[in-house]
Amino acid sequence: MNQPTTALDHLRLGVCYYPEHWKEELWADDFRRMAELGISIVRVGEFAWSIFEPREGVFSFELFDKALELAHQHGLQIIMGTPTATPPAWLTQKYPEVLNVNFNGQTIEHGLRRHYNYNSPKYRELCAIIVRRMAEHYRDHPAIVGWQIDNEFNCEISEFYSPADHAAFREWLQRKYGSLEALNEAWGTVFWSQTYTDWSQVHLSRMTTAGKQPNPHLYLDEKRFISDSVIDFAKVQVDIIREIAPRHWVTTNGLFGHLDSHRMTDELLDFFSYDSYPQFSTIFQDPNEESPLADRGWSQTLSTVRSISPQFCVMEQQAGPGGWVNRLDMPSPKPGQMRLWTYQSIAHGANMVVYFRWRTATFGHEMYWHGLNDYHNRENRRIREARGIGRELAEAGARIASTLYKAEVAIVRDYDNEWDGEYDVWHGPFYWQSRTAWYKALTRRHIPCDTLCLRQGTTLEELRKYKALIYPHAAIMTDEAAALLEEYVSQGGIVVFACRTGYKDDRAQCYMRPFPGAAAKLCGISVEEFTMVKGTRAAVRMNWLSDESAGIAAADTAADRFNDVLLPESDTVEIIATYASDHYAGKPAVTRNAFGQGEAWYYGAVFDEASAAQVISRIGLQSPAEGILELPPQVELAIREDAAGPLYFLLNYAEEPAEMTLREAKTDLLTGRKLQGTISLEGFGVLVLA
Ligand code: GAL
Repeated sequence: MNQPTTALDHLRLGVCYYPEHWKEELWADDFRRMAELGISIVRVGEFAWSIFEPREGVFSFELFDKALELAHQHGLQIIMGTPTATPPAWLTQKYPEVLNVNFNGQTIEHGLRRHYNYNSPKYRELCAIIVRRMAEHYRDHPAIVGWQIDNEFNCEISEFYSPADHAAFREWLQRKYGSLEALNEAWGTVFWSQTYTDWSQVHLSRMTTAGKQPNPHLYLDEKRFISDSVIDFAKVQVDIIREIAPRHWVTTNGLFGHLDSHRMTDELLDFFSYDSYPQFSTIFQDPNEESPLADRGWSQTLSTVRSISPQFCVMEQQAGPGGWVNRLDMPSPKPGQMRLWTYQSIAHGANMVVYFRWRTATFGHEMYWHGLNDYHNRENRRIREARGIGRELAEAGARIASTLYKAEVAIVRDYDNEWDGEYDVWHGPFYWQSRTAWYKALTRRHIPCDTLCLRQGTTLEELRKYKALIYPHAAIMTDEAAALLEEYVSQGGIVVFACRTGYKDDRAQCYMRPFPGAAAKLCGISVEEFTMVKGTRAAVRMNWLSDESAGIAAADTAADRFNDVLLPESDTVEIIATYASDHYAGKPAVTRNAFGQGEAWYYGAVFDEASAAQVISRIGLQSPAEGILELPPQVELAIREDAAGPLYFLLNYAEEPAEMTLREAKTDLLTGRKLQGTISLEGFGVLVLA
């Protein structure tokens, strides 16, 4: 976080509004009705470059001045967007070098959005001009409180191959490696005679004999470079706003690929913002996934957002059915679902929730991405639901705002492994399966869970907040990262690894050491041999040994997708499970190593929910609400707390009512009702118990 801001001191609702899409006669009524719903902040402007600068060097603030004046009269505050996600036609025609180019070498022309590249000096210059003019014009506007930079960096496309990008990549590499020898060494270019003898031979990935199959070490650097390019690009705008409008806060929205949002937020922003469309769960879900979490799965993404900013803004909260003209994306939220998703965001740390959008445009690509209002503007079910939420938060908001999400377990992720794992299928896809399996196992047992992003500079203090860290399939592991984890475990922490851990360095080259490489000392084992598991899921199984002293029975689970056959190398290692089939039947599949005051687990395969559940019970992880609340698996528990105590958010994602028991008397902050004993929470219902 860049500087203290009061933006998130209160819990507030907002809405996205595009005055440029509507006749001026509608504005006053729109703002009046927003205020009446309990909305206090409005995001505007983020795509309106052709309004603000209709021709090069000609600036026009009239339309927005009028609209903002009216908004201000209705007591509304404004988040101003910089419009750089949509360079206008005059700009791309005159300066075609600002356009992005795709991997196949085709220029991405004007016509949708995000058609620019981050490295064109001309584009940075033109962005600096429009942002400076806007900041100068609006720095003293009484309604404006903050800025959103651009819109959703790396949405729609997260690869950049314009001439400016190739040139900037070369410079980036020169800074990073200093010499071609060092670059050749890092990328292993002696393999297949890829050795570079002149910097002009070096490019971002390009077409190969077998399609897009770049050198893997280059490809990892390419993603690091894209991320740095976004941050440099954003910095140009942020620096101008901080210089000219220092009283305003600055954020940006979206969580997309090839961008280190943690670093961007630390270095540039006051807080991070996310766009939450839980109905994307119906689109992105793997059809073969067992017992999917659907919209509840969004909570895990929100935990990543929280790892960037403990309190954050949801800059776009789904408020209607959605699709583009050529996409039938999202069913209409059922009665109660919009309220449920609003509290899902709040439960996970959002202190500002901005609905997308007030009313969708009657034209353009997104004319079916509906918001709170329908085109006719008559009161509808979604408006009534929003009004109810506004009323509830007017009462409950102050108590919630100062609290922070509380978890004792974190699932660890890191950018290098994610970026490398997009290409390297020997570890990347495993991470997503294990992460989902763990999240399901934890959330269905009502064990709140954070995401922890392991980075250079992560401190022991950050790790020590957690009783257990789940860090599966971290193929890339430096000795420094391993040393940090060793310190954490020696002081009493628990780390859970899984197959394919620790065997690559930060160039994504393999160590010449027994697996699990950098994690070997901590785990006290080596990997005797390994194999991928071909064929049906659960083709190989494992036997979990009973532990009578802890009252844990023997069990059998799948040993999914990849098997590391483990060899204990130390007396401190205990075998927890063995493989049940194949030529390595009877050999260790899961081990636990006592290390200092803590323990390091190695799970030899890729997790499914049942195997994650085995580890949960053997570690002794329990719901913090144990003994206070008895909850059915379909209800999510989230806890936000401050010195005044915990707030229990109970979220029912099912359409049917859920029965639960409160062992202690509690008050529902949203209704003021006192509750105790067995109660029924309605379908899509929410309680916030104090
Ligand atoms: C977001 C974007 C919005 C709008 C919305 C619906 O990704 O920021 O501008 O496009 O999706 O598609």
